[in-house]
Amino acid sequence: CGIVGYIGNREATEVLIEGLSRLEYRGYDSAGIAVYDNGEVNVRKYKGRLNVLAEHLKQDSLAGSIGIGHTRWATHGEPSDRNAHPHTNEEGNIAVIHNGIIENYMKIKEWLIEEKGIEFKSDTDTEVIAHLIDHYYEGDLMKAVYQAIEKMEGAYAIGVIAKSEPDKVIAVRKDSPLIVGLGEGENFIASDIPALLKYTRKMHLIENDEVVLLTKDGVKIFNELGQEMDREVFNVTWDADAAEKEGYEHFMIKEIHEQPKGISETLMRRLDKEDNIVLDGIKLTNEDLENINKIYIVACGTAYHAGLVGRFAIEKFAKIPVEVDVASEFRYRDPFIDEKTLFIAVSQSGETLDTLAALREAKRKGARILSIVNVVGSSVARESHDVFYTWAGPEIAVASTKAYTTQLTAFYMLALHMATIKGNMDREQYLQILKELKTMPEKAQSLLKDFAEIQHQAAGHFNNESVFFMGRGVDVHVAHEASLKLKEISYINSFAIAAGELKHGTIALIEKGTLVVALATQDRLYDKMLSNIQEVRARGAYVVAVAKEGNKEIEKTADVVLYIPDTMDELSPILSIIPLQLFAYYVAVARGTDVDKPKNLAKSVTVE
Ligand code: G6P
Repeated sequence: CGIVGYIGNREATEVLIEGLSRLEYRGYDSAGIAVYDNGEVNVRKYKGRLNVLAEHLKQDSLAGSIGIGHTRWATHGEPSDRNAHPHTNEEGNIAVIHNGIIENYMKIKEWLIEEKGIEFKSDTDTEVIAHLIDHYYEGDLMKAVYQAIEKMEGAYAIGVIAKSEPDKVIAVRKDSPLIVGLGEGENFIASDIPALLKYTRKMHLIENDEVVLLTKDGVKIFNELGQEMDREVFNVTWDADAAEKEGYEHFMIKEIHEQPKGISETLMRRLDKEDNIVLDGIKLTNEDLENINKIYIVACGTAYHAGLVGRFAIEKFAKIPVEVDVASEFRYRDPFIDEKTLFIAVSQSGETLDTLAALREAKRKGARILSIVNVVGSSVARESHDVFYTWAGPEIAVASTKAYTTQLTAFYMLALHMATIKGNMDREQYLQILKELKTMPEKAQSLLKDFAEIQHQAAGHFNNESVFFMGRGVDVHVAHEASLKLKEISYINSFAIAAGELKHGTIALIEKGTLVVALATQDRLYDKMLSNIQEVRARGAYVVAVAKEGNKEIEKTADVVLYIPDTMDELSPILSIIPLQLFAYYVAVARGTDVDKPKNLAKSVTVE
């Protein structure tokens, strides 16, 4: 899941471990490094956290200033020492790290076993790469790598070092992120920018099908045909400290608190003096937009939940029909797409493989591609025609919070922008909604001041076996996101449902003491929600409601009410999720889980 490579004068081990530690947030199950020293390629790799590897290295250190390192998230073969990367050829003189999947690895593996009698040491698809390079090697490592990748199908980023050519690191990118960091007398590769920020801010973004040759003193980038490519230096302006915890106990709670700022950055930086929305990264002209007759929003996980709210906003404001789909489903159902379709991909990382694959499919069929992405220069961003960056800053906790609320902000802005262009909203209405949108940072801030009641509820319910979330209208989308937050980090079996659907099945599960979280922020549906709350209360449920300030009546029906500041129904999702993010967080803390890195989950899922 994370790749780092180094060549220079420092101890490679230190650079690799430091770099990999910056990628820990991506989630992984094992870690390893290979370092060249004095005629040998030495490998150390272990199942478990990076500190397991670091502890072993304390006893058994690896000297040398050329190396590659990797954190693995299992795809082929269980998490184990032997399946951890780097992998080597039989003699152990070529070492390879790899992100992604080699789809035809079984075929290559069988061939290597039958033809060459190779004994495999792991169950991974990666190991075949080391053997393939070895097979082709005749004194020119670069040439052997080119021959090997010609045989490989799938998505990958790889890093290679070899004993016979110890003055270089070679890397390849195909559909899996890879960047180069530029230093003085030293150079780096990595799968992600944060890995290298301690050492350099000067980077090259590597494109698909490119091969990189890294030496101490230089970097050369070649295309598929072996032609050398020019590449601009990409200066990273992020603050490395922005990725630190700043005194909070977990990244997640820090990021929850950063939401007012993220929403404000995303919004305010795109408004001109007359309150017009100015979308820099979007080249879509008014004429293009007038031609659009259908929109698909496609994403995974939390970004998908943002997309559901996005549909609501676009249909309501801009009156364009929208479908929302999870990326892994979208690809396989032959959706109707043509040049009049606008495809909106939503992704925090911009590297989620399912989302990227859906995007490519839509692009192939002629759709215009707009993406809402947090990571600048990420694959989704680069492959889109238009990009709307959410300025949430780096999100480290696996459970997404500030990315979600900035994605919602982005959708509201897009919806307003489209509505104006389509002529479906007059200026007065536009200004009224925008005015309310501008109050969101402050209102979100007010929710972060006092959450004693939420902590109290978390303390009372952290031992629950299951929790239900329900809502109507746009609230049901928030219910889904709130439920996902809770299950991701607390491992409680949680479930979200449209409140009107309760009576068609789920109500059978309600018994004495069952916790039901009821979102009741929509004025139009308020009375209906009160009836739904009564329905579950009558079966013994304990109901925590989320409602807008001033709606006192609900106190008679629910056991506890968490209030959000009064706002327009349409915009309430930005606020109503916040108490529920906090609830999930405090429940997880009470249960003692690994809040920022929940088990079995990864921040960025770059496999199908
Ligand atoms: C993973 C993460 C989720 C995230 C989803 C989509 O499953 O654990 O938190 O919502 O991927 O990620 P993306 O980077 O595309 O928004």
